[in-house]
Amino acid sequence: AATTTYQAENAARTQGVVESNHAGYTGTGFVNYDNVTGSSVTFTVNVGTAGSASLAFRYANGTTVSRPMTIAVDGTTVATPQFASTGVWTTWNTTTVNATLSAGSHTIKTTATTANGGPNLDSLTVTDAGGGGGGAP
Ligand code: GCU
Repeated sequence: AATTTYQAENAARTQGVVESNHAGYTGTGFVNYDNVTGSSVTFTVNVGTAGSASLAFRYANGTTVSRPMTIAVDGTTVATPQFASTGVWTTWNTTTVNATLSAGSHTIKTTATTANGGPNLDSLTVTDAGGGGGGAP
């Protein structure tokens, strides 16, 4: 399978800002969603092999309350994971959902569903359904 990581700070966003004040992020920073319902980050990803792909979101949530977000592929919601507390803003965990993706380009939009907004989002790692390689390390 082919694995590609997309940095949140390079993605499109509404109601959020790129910051780098909490250590442990990859790339050059992370997106701090505004604390409002509807704040979002949209990644454009490229898939080599059609099938069930893994979408792994690396994030931090230093509050005690989960921050659910809808995950929409090309405009259709496929999951609403919780993005549970990571304890502090410098601890980063990964939440993974699976989605069936055709080969080619897709938008992956992550939208906060509560007034707390989204977590701090570091990156999205997409692993496609391609065989033969044994998958991500
Ligand atoms: C704090 C934290 C931010 C975070 C925010 C939030 O201000 O420093 O990084 O995004 O809380 O609750 O969303």
